[in-house]
Amino acid sequence: MSETHATQENSQDAIPTLEETAPLIGSPGAIRQHEDAPFWRNLFMGTGSLAQLGLLVLTAVIWTSVLSLKITLFSLHPILNSVAVVSLVEAVLLLQPTNTPYQKRTGAIIHSILIVISIVAFVGALTAIVLNKIRIKHTHFDSPHSILGLATYIAVVIQATVGLAQFYTPGVFGSIERAKSIYKYHRIAGYIIHLLLFATLLAATKTDFALGPLRLKTWKIALGIFFIVVGVFPRVRKEKLGFKRQ
Ligand code: HEM
Repeated sequence: MSETHATQENSQDAIPTLEETAPLIGSPGAIRQHEDAPFWRNLFMGTGSLAQLGLLVLTAVIWTSVLSLKITLFSLHPILNSVAVVSLVEAVLLLQPTNTPYQKRTGAIIHSILIVISIVAFVGALTAIVLNKIRIKHTHFDSPHSILGLATYIAVVIQATVGLAQFYTPGVFGSIERAKSIYKYHRIAGYIIHLLLFATLLAATKTDFALGPLRLKTWKIALGIFFIVVGVFPRVRKEKLGFKRQ
C-alpha cells in the first residue's frame, strides 16, 4: 500500500460517522426514515426507545395490578385499554419519521391498521366496563376518569373516521388536495388526544377501585407516561404540523 493511500485511509478512519456521533438516545426532532430502512425501526429511532420503555412500564404496571386480583368482567376494561394505548402510540411512532412518498403511503396503511386494532380494543374495554356497571347496578359516567374516558373514546373515533376518510376516500372532501390540506389538523388533534389519554390514565388511579383493591399507584402510571411523552413529543416535526416550511 502506498504511503499516500495509507494516510488517506487513516484520516478517513479518524472522521467519526454520523451514527457514531449521534447521542445514545437519539437527537430530538428531525428523525427521518432512511431510504431502505424497515418500518419497525421507526418505532425505536431517536427518542422512540424511550416511548417503548414508557409503554412497557405502563402495560406492566396495569397488568400486574389487574392480574393480582381474580379475573372478572372488569379486568377486560384496563387490559383492553392498555392494548389500545400501545397500538395507538405505536401507530404514531411508526408514521412520524416517514419521508418518501412510498414511506408515507405504506406508513399510512400500517398506521390505519394499528388505529383500527386500537378502536376494536377500546370498544371492547368500554363494553366491559358498561356491562360490569350494569351488573353491579352502579351509576355511569360519575367520576373524572369516566368522563375523561368517554371524551377520549369519542375523540379517537372522530379522529379515526376523519383520518380514514382523508386517506381512503379523499373524494368526500372535494378533492385529494383538500383532503391532504387538512392532514396538519389531523396531526395536531392526534397529539391532543395523547394528552387526553394520559389524563384519563392518571384519573383511573384515583377511582375507588384503583385506590382500593387494585392498588394502582399514580406515580407508577405517571412514570410510564413520562417516558412516552419524552419519547413521542421530541420527534414531532414542526414542518409536518404546518408551522415551518419543509
Ligand atoms: C385509555 C384508557 C381508558 C379509558 C379511555 C377509560 C374509560 C372509562 C370509561 C368511559 C368509564 C366509565 C364507564 C361507565 O361509567 O359506564 C371507565 C370506568 C372505569 N375505569 Fe376506565 N378507562 C381507561 C383505562 C382504565 C384503567 C387503566 C383502569 C385501571 C386499571 C381503569 C379503571 C376504571 C374503573 C375502576 C372504572 C369504574 C369507576 C368509574 O367509572 O370511575 N380504566 N373507564
